[in-house]
Amino acid sequence: MSKLRTQVGIIGGGPAGLTLAHLLHLQGIESIVLERHSREYVETRVRAGVLEQGTVDILCGSGVGERLKREGLEHQGVELRFDGRGHRIDFQELVGKSITVYAQQEVVKDLILARLGYKAPTYFEAGATRIEDYDANPKIHFRWSDEDHEIACDFIAGCDGFHGICRPAVPSEQLQIHERHYPFAWLGILAQVAPASHELIYTYHQRGFSLLSMRSPEISRLYLQCAPDEDIEKWSDERIWDELRTRMAKREGFVLKDGPIMQKGLTPMRSFVASPMQFGKLFLLGDAAHIVPPTGAKGLNLAVADVRVLTRGLVEFYKRGNREALEQYTERCLRRVWKCERFSSWMTSMLHRFPQEDSFSHHIHVAELDYVTSSRAASTALAENYVGLPFDTPELF
Ligand code: APR
Ligand code: PHB
Repeated sequence: MSKLRTQVGIIGGGPAGLTLAHLLHLQGIESIVLERHSREYVETRVRAGVLEQGTVDILCGSGVGERLKREGLEHQGVELRFDGRGHRIDFQELVGKSITVYAQQEVVKDLILARLGYKAPTYFEAGATRIEDYDANPKIHFRWSDEDHEIACDFIAGCDGFHGICRPAVPSEQLQIHERHYPFAWLGILAQVAPASHELIYTYHQRGFSLLSMRSPEISRLYLQCAPDEDIEKWSDERIWDELRTRMAKREGFVLKDGPIMQKGLTPMRSFVASPMQFGKLFLLGDAAHIVPPTGAKGLNLAVADVRVLTRGLVEFYKRGNREALEQYTERCLRRVWKCERFSSWMTSMLHRFPQEDSFSHHIHVAELDYVTSSRAASTALAENYVGLPFDTPELF
């Protein structure tokens, strides 16, 4: 068994853990990253792919944005489609910002490459098994290469996602959980075909929601609302394309070309917030603390926003001996988290069919979409949230 020591022990090598490790490194703060899966696994895991402008700025400003700038697809708007008609929300015109489509696993690859480039300690296939004494002398126990190891650190960053060990390590009476489950899921595909639109299309249809997104000029990413316990085996490629065509149809016609499906998966829909997000010297970040349904494309962006707040707090602590920003971590993060929870659950409710909806509810969905797309005030509110609300602290870079 080996005993290691660092300033910040980071559990989880997803976007939250890797971004935090990178920003701390640039500030001269040491960390060790533990990731229970292999490098290959985290670099190929298919997840969402929309980056807010603020997230792009952090990645580019910290020197890991070279490929993102080259390969990311900058979008200046999205389409909302309902009643067989498309309505564009023009972000650039309404709020002067844009979003970038760049897959989460590409962000993860870029961060791992940077970290390995400066040889900072990063353990893959290293699952943390237990954390200890996070109020006073934090320790992380982990298993790596068939042996037990231990890290003593000043702080623990719980970046271990929704199913990690950090949140459950806190006594339940110290945690408040706020959650909502949605009675549907998304069936997502990655297909080898040019996207049928150069911008994202969110569609409300009586048969349910659908979404057209993309990963590159040759690869489409599409989603269909389905039952939460949907049997994916019952969805042949042909059935998926037929259903997508039905839901995305336009009165004047819309061509959705099909192509080979490279990957199929189910995404559950959940809203979840744990509060507080800090316990002594343990901090929770990203999915370990909160989940949003993917309709607003906020998951990764919220994780990066937490990282921004914690980095600032740790810099204040290590460089100036000031604990104030660390003490305000939960409060600062949750202000943004709750606004993103609100936006994501609003987008989800507006665009999906709930079980037992009647014709009245259908007309309310359509009226709400009609209002959002025809009122400049309402379109601006959607655009402002979609591209990312402003941060209330100055830029790190
Ligand atoms: N020890 C080490 N690593 C762990 C442990 C553990 N005990 N438990 C979980 N992990 C790792 C997971 O394998 C995963 O790679 O923690 C990582 C958590 O990463 P994510 O689930 O990606 O969560 P996060 O980094 O918070 O990213 C935010 O944005 O798009 C959304 O939900 C999406 O993952 C995304 C999220
Ligand atoms: C995606 O491209 O995977 C994607 C895009 C927008 C969303 C969710 C997922 O709202």
